[in-house]
Amino acid sequence: MITVSAPGKLMLLGEHAVVYGQPCLVTAVDRRLSVGVEISGDKSIQINSPGASDTRFVEAAVSEFFKTTKLDNPGLHITTKSEFETSLGFGSSAAVTGATVKALSLVMQKSLTDGEIFDIAYKAVYLVQGLGSGFDVAASVWGGTLYFVTGGKAVEPLAADNMPLIVGYSGVKADTTTMVKMVAEKKKKFPEKVDRIFQAIGKLVNQAKEAMVTGDWGRVGKLMDFNQEYLRDLGVSTQKLEDMISAARAAGAWGAKLSGAGGGDCMIALYPQGIQGKSTIAGAIQEAGGQVIDVGAGAEGVKIEQADNKSV
Ligand code: PMV
Repeated sequence: MITVSAPGKLMLLGEHAVVYGQPCLVTAVDRRLSVGVEISGDKSIQINSPGASDTRFVEAAVSEFFKTTKLDNPGLHITTKSEFETSLGFGSSAAVTGATVKALSLVMQKSLTDGEIFDIAYKAVYLVQGLGSGFDVAASVWGGTLYFVTGGKAVEPLAADNMPLIVGYSGVKADTTTMVKMVAEKKKKFPEKVDRIFQAIGKLVNQAKEAMVTGDWGRVGKLMDFNQEYLRDLGVSTQKLEDMISAARAAGAWGAKLSGAGGGDCMIALYPQGIQGKSTIAGAIQEAGGQVIDVGAGAEGVKIEQADNKSV
């Protein structure tokens, strides 16, 4: 049995625009999902995913892995386990896909680079969802904080240490597919306006990248505020998210915005140095009806947790 884990993710800036070729910034969070794989030798594939009803991503990861490597599938027992609820929007589908591909490469003794793991996992996710930039798959594979362009056209790890990040869950599960399609509709109706928004978001992302590596979190926060305005224009924010974001700003956050597709899931805020600032902002988010989730940014990418296989 080989067990591999991969982190969840949070989008920092650039959601939606990234689907249309603009860059985004994503960070891996220290809540992990693990996948155990062992060869059964009976040619069948058994997937045991307690607490997760959807095994399509694991199945797609298996089929893409064997298709790409041209190896014969010997039969596998696969078990998955998550440290976080799928409802949070931390990217459990991408994490389980990335971890499954890595675990398969180890159990089948097929050495793959991170880029190859990403390509296989992204194809698998795309097969199931039919859309998506792959930013979540990249976070699960490389970890850390990444500057990312759709499909992995650019994957640049950033030295963005000690990110003063607060996360608030809105209590509503977002439907990414619906939100992405809604934005596509809007783009069809108002192509120039929406294109202009995407370009502006892309510029913000590039500025935030520079500010992040110099540790200028005040500036990153301001850019997050601007990004939120564009997301509101796109129509993906909700009253609940707006309330949590306003509360965080009023309590002294450097900036705040929704994270991900919108329509629910989480908002993020950056707090000024000092534990006081953090707890004041966390309190304000809770007062606005949000649930504060204590996660660390820049977590390690996909990694081996346990390898009982003698050959590894
Ligand atoms: O809903 P999430 O957290 O998976 O984020 C979706 C982000 C989008 O840019 C809207 C879609 C994508 O695949 O990049």
